[in-house]
Amino acid sequence: MQGDDGASTVISIYRDLESLSLAAAALFVESARKAIAVRGRFSVALSGGSTPRRTYELLGAPANLERVDWSRTHVFWGDERCVPPEDPRSNARMARAAFLDRAPIPEGRIHPILCNESPEAEAERYDGLLRSFFGPGPPRFDLVFLGLGDNGHTASLFPYDGALHEREKLAVVVRLPDQGMTRITLTLPALNHAAKIVFLVEGAAKAQMLKAALHGPRDPERIPVQLIQPLDGETIWLADEAAASKLER
Ligand code: 6PG
Repeated sequence: MQGDDGASTVISIYRDLESLSLAAAALFVESARKAIAVRGRFSVALSGGSTPRRTYELLGAPANLERVDWSRTHVFWGDERCVPPEDPRSNARMARAAFLDRAPIPEGRIHPILCNESPEAEAERYDGLLRSFFGPGPPRFDLVFLGLGDNGHTASLFPYDGALHEREKLAVVVRLPDQGMTRITLTLPALNHAAKIVFLVEGAAKAQMLKAALHGPRDPERIPVQLIQPLDGETIWLADEAAASKLER
């Protein structure tokens, strides 16, 4: 589907997580090579959770490592849990173990969100980091990976949370008392100017929410992922058969 404002949405369905992850890794490599060829650098915001792990492992395989100019790659995160860096729940830890520790990216170009100590100060720091990296005007990531929670959240934009209404700050603190968790998330102003947003959705547990998000009535407070609509960019949904099982084909 192509909007007249340059926005487009594509849904690709894969037999299983492995084939979905191969496609996601290929999209990463293609986006990196194109961005570096055109602008001399590649900016990507990684998703957390478990679904992208296999994609990241594939990016850490020699075949992909040699296809990306990692010296021109800048890695950010779409959100992070405010836990110690070595905590198994850390999104940065998962990505480092899966591929970043094997990719020759200059350390100054990997930008983890370090919010274990003072979340508010870190949200402000990360906001400033994004502004200085992207310069004046809205931040335009070349690629953003996002996931989908079975409650409709993406990044750490959760239903009915105040973060959904943030239109100035690029990163904010999100407190989730029921999870006993504090997080930092990029906001819509940080995400919706991306050139390409790729959702990775796997498993039957996501099927109902994926159908509601894509084909149900618009209800962004209840289904925050519906707020992700790049103004001038491409949205690509990569889903496995199980997650796509309730979609109208
Ligand atoms: C996080 C993610 C979150 C995730 C979804 C899906 O930090 O948890 O950013 O938005 O993408 O919760 O998670 P799974 O891939 O584990 O299902």
